[in-house]
Amino acid sequence: MILLGKSGSSLIRGGIFWGIVSSFGGSRLDKIERDILTRVRKRLSASSAVLDVGCGIGNLARAIAPYVRKVVAVDPVEGMIERANMIGGLPNLEFQVKTLDMCLNNGGVYSAVLCTHVLQYVDKPDEFLRNIAKLSDDGLVMIAVACLGERRSLLASIISLMGAIGIMPRFHQLTFLDVRSIIELSGLNIVDFDILDKDMNIIWAVCKK
Ligand SMILES: C[S@@+](CC[C@H](N)C(=O)[O-])C[C@H]1O[C@@H](n2cnc3c(N)ncnc32)[C@H](O)[C@@H]1O
Repeated sequence: MILLGKSGSSLIRGGIFWGIVSSFGGSRLDKIERDILTRVRKRLSASSAVLDVGCGIGNLARAIAPYVRKVVAVDPVEGMIERANMIGGLPNLEFQVKTLDMCLNNGGVYSAVLCTHVLQYVDKPDEFLRNIAKLSDDGLVMIAVACLGERRSLLASIISLMGAIGIMPRFHQLTFLDVRSIIELSGLNIVDFDILDKDMNIIWAVCKK
């Protein structure tokens, strides 16, 4: 089911769900986010400009900001950006209510695009990835994605059921192989592919044009 996000300007899957989710969650990084931060920092320098697509309440964007020139963090759900702004951040970090289409229309080129825990929710992940890459000058895209399709689990079944009855957005139950195929279909090359978390089967992938 596709719902109109609270932003009103963007059709995203489960806009109401994300609006509710935005009220929860603290600003501290968990172990996986700290690992992502370390990996992101290896790919960036003090002069980098980073776009974080589907930034949620902005914890990663906030953590990256001290190490780069600029971070623009966008999310189509107004509630997410309201909460992100409430938590605050450095002057070189900007939160914006924006869909990917709006980013593409506004131009702007970044050193890298970060997209964590978003791909499994979008309609056409390969197309989404191809478009994201247009926003990076050499097509550097870093993604994290939970692959619930890797093994049968109660969590995967619950998420699938909640998606089917419209309580939460539909969630692609991806496998590691699916993620590789999505990246290849998007026209990008994989330069790093690693498992961030073996229990949750979370993949880290760095891609380039
Ligand atoms: C699980 S949260 C991840 C947030 C953050 N990236 C992180 O790693 O904590 C998924 C986010 O994706 C956003 N989202 C969902 N569909 C999207 C779409 N089509 N385009 C951009 N963002 C989307 C949601 O609003 C939500 O903030």
